[in-house]
Amino acid sequence: MRFDRKLSVLAVCLCSLGCADFHRGPAPRDAGADAGADGDAALVADWTFEIQVYPILESRCQGCHQGGGMAGSTRFVLTGNARMDRAMVVALVTPGDPGASLLLQRATGEAHAGGQVITQDDTDYDTIANWILGLSAP
Ligand code: HEC
Repeated sequence: MRFDRKLSVLAVCLCSLGCADFHRGPAPRDAGADAGADGDAALVADWTFEIQVYPILESRCQGCHQGGGMAGSTRFVLTGNARMDRAMVVALVTPGDPGASLLLQRATGEAHAGGQVITQDDTDYDTIANWILGLSAP
């Protein structure tokens, strides 16, 4: 009996891990998908963003792009909370078109006072580009 229960707990864990890791479909639409309990439709659960993309932004951009930082008065200011910041980041990209996305253009040094932070052959570039490719058009 106990063994059975352990097995089903394991199955549930594996399933949720699998769903997060192998999520290849389009990211959830912004409107209403899994909105927070407070009903804020802007708070979307997007695991690819939270687990893969946001840590890159935190480690490579937040030094300047934070409140009071060198780029603290731009449209790209990170708070440290991925779910809160997602809508702001989405507003800086062109869903489905990484090359046309301001976020990646600036990150690669195009008209960016912060210089070239990421090169196009960097795996972090691919991670962000793949996330943008998976976003559905607004
Ligand atoms: C050394 C500091 C520095 C770093 C690191 C840095 N930036 Fe910037 N960034 C700036 C400054 C300063 C500006 C404002 C002036 C400008 O637009 O070039 C800016 C502007 C931007 C803008 C335009 C925002 C707007 O309001 O139009 C984007 C997008 C951007 N950066 C993305 C990034 C990304 C993505 C990273 C990390 C991969 C990054 N930056 C890392 C300094 C930095």
